[in-house]
This record gives sequence, structure tokens and C-alpha cells, in this order.
Amino acid sequence: MERSGPLVLEIQTITVRYGGLTALDSVSLSAPAGSFTALIGANGAGKSTLFRAISGTVPLAEGRILHESADVTQMPSHERARRGIAHVPEGRHVFKTMTVAENIEVGTYSARASSPSIYEFIYCLFPRLKERRNQLAGVLSGGEQQMLAIGRALASRPSLLLLDEPSIGLSPALGDEIFEAISNMHRETGVTVLLVEQRVVEALELCDMAHVLQNGRIVESGPPTSLLRSKDIGRAYVGLPPVTA
Ligand SMILES: Nc1ncnc2c1ncn2[C@@H]1O[C@H](COP(=O)(O)OP(=O)(O)OP(=O)(O)O)[C@@H](O)[C@H]1O
Ligand SMILES: [Mg+2]
Repeated sequence: MERSGPLVLEIQTITVRYGGLTALDSVSLSAPAGSFTALIGANGAGKSTLFRAISGTVPLAEGRILHESADVTQMPSHERARRGIAHVPEGRHVFKTMTVAENIEVGTYSARASSPSIYEFIYCLFPRLKERRNQLAGVLSGGEQQMLAIGRALASRPSLLLLDEPSIGLSPALGDEIFEAISNMHRETGVTVLLVEQRVVEALELCDMAHVLQNGRIVESGPPTSLLRSKDIGRAYVGLPPVTA
């Protein structure tokens, strides 16, 4: 995909600290409208912290974040959600004692404009949710709960969707289903996506730009083909064998 056009997200040299620990250190990146960006990196690299910084659940020590050219650095997270920043955090956070349909309804509350067809769209993307729409979210399988978490985020009709490890804890087959749904969703909505994934090969297949985070810094950026050619990335994250010669 062409990475040009208006920027939905601009992260300008942000630093985030938890007490004395620097979790993000002068990180900059941007995402044009409709792009799909993957963030990869080892445990503790700062991936989830980056998403928290974008959605406004951790404060910045330094730097600025712009959403659709507006500076949202000081904006509380609920206002960022209203502006169209949707964050699906690690773990499957659904309202377990509410039905599937009610969970999606909650997602519509932060939508900028109401859209009666949004349910049909979400059920079309995730047919399992349609079958189970009147069941409590707590009885869904892990994969279905992840679908619901993504569906609820989509119900707010975001312009920017942050997906933190959607396949975590799922069987390979269920993870495959989630990736397929994410791919369809991106194609059909054109929403700008940032994806954090441990399944690096799949993430690189989906994205048009990837960044590698290491100890809170971006150490490599590029289109997925060039990252896959990088021997360091291959060895560290994709499980390629060490180079012996
Ligand atoms: N609430 C917190 N308080 C203190 N330190 C934190 C907090 N959250 C994260 N950290 C630390 O900040 C660093 C970055 O954590 P973060 O969760 O962003 O990493 P990550 O790349 O998402 O890792 P993982 O792949 O394990 O999810 C880690 O060293 C972590 O221990
Ligand atoms: Mg994380």
C-alpha cells in the first residue's frame, strides 16, 4: 500500500517513564490514513506502553502525539476514544456479564455518528458473534472473546485501531481466524491499524510498514519485505536459524 496522504497518527519523540524506568525513549513514527503498521519486539520492549501512550492511559514525559493533525498529548483517554482512537489492549477485555450484542452496543457509545448497520457489519466480519449475539460474553471461547473485543472497538467506528497481541493465548487455528478477520476488516473499512503481535510472520504479512522496538527505542523500520531480509530480525523474531558462515 502507498504510504502517503494525510497522517492519522504522528508520534513525535515521545518518552514514557514508569517511576525510574524509561519504557519508551524518544520514539517517533507516523501512520498515513489507511495504512497497516506492525510493531514487533521482545517482551518488555515497550509495545503496550506505546499503545497506552497513544490512547492516553499513560502520560508522556516528553514529546507530542497528533491524531489527524490535532495535538492530543494532553487529552484524556475518553476524549481520544471519541475522536476515533480505539485501543484493544492485551488480554480479552469484554464485559462478561453482558451479552455479545450489549458489548457491541457499549462500543457504539463513543462513535462520532450513529450507524444502525454497524452491527450487521461486525456480524458479517465475525459470523460466530452473530450466532451468539444473545449469549453472555463470559461463556464465549477465548477466540470469540477476542473477536468481540475487536468488534466492540470497531463499533465506535474508529479512524485508528490499536490491536495489542490479538492472537495471544489462542490456538494456532483460532489465531489464524483472527488474522483473517483483521485482514478483511482492514480491507473493508480502510481503518488505520497498528498491530502488536508475537506471531511476527503473520504480522509482517498483514502490514505495509513495520517497526522493531528494543528497550524502548525503535531500532529498525521499513516495509515488511526489507525487515524479513534483515538477518537480525529473522533470527531474533521469526525463528530463522543463526547465520553460521
Ligand atoms: N505499570 C507499570 N509500572 C511499572 N513498569 C511497567 C508498567 N508497565 C510496564 N512496565 C515496564 O515497562 C517496560 C515496557 O513494558 P510493556 O508492557 O510496554 O512491554 P511490551 O513490549 O508490551 O511487552 P510484552 O511483549 O511482554 O507484552 C517493561 O520493562 C515493563 O516491566
Ligand atoms: Mg505488551
